[in-house]
Amino acid sequence: MTVIDGRAISASIRNEIKAEVAKMKERGPVPGLAVIIVGDDPASKVYVRNKGRACEEAGIYSEIIELPEKTEQGELLGIIDKLNARAGINGILVQLPLPRHIDEKAVTARILPEKDVDSFCDENVGKVAVGAPRFLPCTPAGVMELLHRSGACIEGCECVVIGRSNIVGKPMAMMLLKENGTVTVCHSKTKNLIEHTRRADILVSAIGKPKFITGEMIKPGAVVIDVGINRTPDGKICGDVDFDSAAKVASMITPVPGGVGPMTITMLLKNTITAAKLQNDTNV
Ligand code: GUN
Repeated sequence: MTVIDGRAISASIRNEIKAEVAKMKERGPVPGLAVIIVGDDPASKVYVRNKGRACEEAGIYSEIIELPEKTEQGELLGIIDKLNARAGINGILVQLPLPRHIDEKAVTARILPEKDVDSFCDENVGKVAVGAPRFLPCTPAGVMELLHRSGACIEGCECVVIGRSNIVGKPMAMMLLKENGTVTVCHSKTKNLIEHTRRADILVSAIGKPKFITGEMIKPGAVVIDVGINRTPDGKICGDVDFDSAAKVASMITPVPGGVGPMTITMLLKNTITAAKLQNDTNV
């Protein structure tokens, strides 16, 4: 049984990214990313700080725009318009969730598709769905990198995704399908979940239920990818998968923390580079 080391894989991709940014700097401007956060959600603040730090380490220019909870939607849209128009900003990300009085859909739709490094707008979601992506959504893209770099078989294999969110489950299914996996998407209304999970050669869980997936739900030899980041009552971080029982059955498994988590920001850096290349019209 192999524990897939997301921190190590992420570090090696970030080294590749750093080298690429250094090369871009010789020829022109470095890529630039703007991250907007509205309000004081503690988890979001940590994520945003980590995104800024990761940019700095990679040599990518970044701006973090912190707005108060009571910011009006119109003001936020105005800020996005200004960032859309700035040549030095190649990627724009609005950290979710937003306060309730702001319409997330309207906000993500305002970002120019060419700068939508989250790949959240309809045009970019559509491009992923037809198999011609501009940007790959960061979390499922991170999962694909883990699968590739761990040598997992996707083509012709049974891939079961649990969760159907727009951020993870749906694009995950599209990306596995593109690589010729036989994909099933399960969700909260799925009957006999265990019958699906037990068939999976690759099982991806993105449901947000601590330790929900146990060893008995896993096919012997399966690759188990845990996208969940949950907090137990005693404040510890744990995944959707009960690691100890799952590790006895799986051939490969991602831990939480240290599995998928570190990959998400790495894929954001990659998308920011892609955005800069597309906008500066160099080879992608
Ligand atoms: N909140 C949780 N995950 C994400 C993400 O991938 N992007 C953004 N913008 N917000 C998030």
